[in-house]
Amino acid sequence: MLDEIKVLIKEEEIQNRIKEIANDISNDYENEEIILVCILKGATYFAIDLSRKITNNMVLLDFMKVSSYENGATKSTGKINFKLDISQNIENKNVIIVEDIIDSGFTLNYLYDYLKKKNPKTLKICVLLDKKERRKKDIKVDYTGFEIEDKFVVGYGLDYDEKYRNLPYIGYIES
Ligand code: IMP
Ligand code: MG
Repeated sequence: MLDEIKVLIKEEEIQNRIKEIANDISNDYENEEIILVCILKGATYFAIDLSRKITNNMVLLDFMKVSSYENGATKSTGKINFKLDISQNIENKNVIIVEDIIDSGFTLNYLYDYLKKKNPKTLKICVLLDKKERRKKDIKVDYTGFEIEDKFVVGYGLDYDEKYRNLPYIGYIES
């Protein structure tokens, strides 16, 4: 049976907001090199679109993968499984962690502490979506796309059991 997806944030709204965040990042770093660390798989669409809109021409991309969900679950287990490390030395570099969504905050808390130990020059966090009311870890997010209510969302990189990542908008499953 096909799930019915309701649109929460339209494609155009997402792209406009990403342009605004890209402008902020371009201004904040001027002509310094930035490494965007995209958290697989959810943040791929966001990180790629964001990188294309940053006018600073020294933007490097890297990838990390962790997971905190069991297959088919819609809530984090709180236990982080490390799957893939970054591929370059970030010591003394400007690093921005790019993530699809912050929910409990466990994932970003873990990633921030992990990357901080590698002694970057600066380390910031950029998320497309923030489910603020569900936060369990107090963590500072530097760039936020949209604050959303406590709904399980899919699309634009976010999945439910690996499905729906390719939707160009953010939606939720009507149940
Ligand atoms: P946290 O560790 O609880 O902050 O969860 C963050 C991770 O959970 C994100 O990287 C997402 O992969 C996943 N996640 C949290 N909320 C949603 C959602 O509504 N839809 C899809 N994935 C989500
Ligand atoms: Mg994720």
